[in-house]
Amino acid sequence: MAKPDLSNPVEIAKDIFWVGFDDASAGFRCNPYILNDGDETVFFDPGSVPHFPIVLSKVIKATRLERIKHVIVTHQDPDLCAALPRFEELVAGTGGSFNICTHTRASLLISHYGTRSGFYRVDANDWRLTLQSGRKLQFIFAPFLHFPGAFMTYDEKSKILFSGDIFGGFSFDWNLYANEYYEEAVKAFHENYMPSNRLLRHTMDKLDSLEIDMIAPQHGSIIRKEDVRHYIDVLRNLECGGDLF
Ligand SMILES: [Fe+2]
Ligand SMILES: [Fe+2]
Repeated sequence: MAKPDLSNPVEIAKDIFWVGFDDASAGFRCNPYILNDGDETVFFDPGSVPHFPIVLSKVIKATRLERIKHVIVTHQDPDLCAALPRFEELVAGTGGSFNICTHTRASLLISHYGTRSGFYRVDANDWRLTLQSGRKLQFIFAPFLHFPGAFMTYDEKSKILFSGDIFGGFSFDWNLYANEYYEEAVKAFHENYMPSNRLLRHTMDKLDSLEIDMIAPQHGSIIRKEDVRHYIDVLRNLECGGDLF
């Protein structure tokens, strides 16, 4: 398969783009994504301050800023959302605005970045968001993985699971799509950042009934359909965090 051009947005599924930065100095590659549904755009985990100029340069190739109506923020870590106020300012400059979709517990912390947008609290909205077209995004609660209010987003149309930190990987040798080495990177990340196997199992069990065509995590590499069940089992069986004391 041809190597994707990482200097541009990479279309990972129809109208869904990776808009991250291939930062060779970072063991944590961060993966923001854009989902376009007609002229409504959803922006997933928009990224950090140092990555902002590169991410912005790709976002404006993948959509128009005024179309961004929802920014899904899986938790409050700076690598995935410290750039929020900068995006707010630019979107406001176009006359637009967006909601920050997150868990109530995370909203209390995200506001400390100086955000001004309204919050769409996934836990107070039946764990779903319906776009103007009727397309539904389901939010899957993943408590304490690794933030108490962590969640993943399942797009019913593309069958992509935008998984936040879960299924992420840590490694300096990085590929946009998972290769044979990715399992080690996933283990390295989860062993050090996730609290316990019991909590991983609790969330993996929720995925058994979902048809998942791709997993798009916020760190590490994208997992294709043929490997999805394998990685669910890897996490279901992984000892991590407190299990390793
Ligand atoms: Fe995190
Ligand atoms: Fe993260």
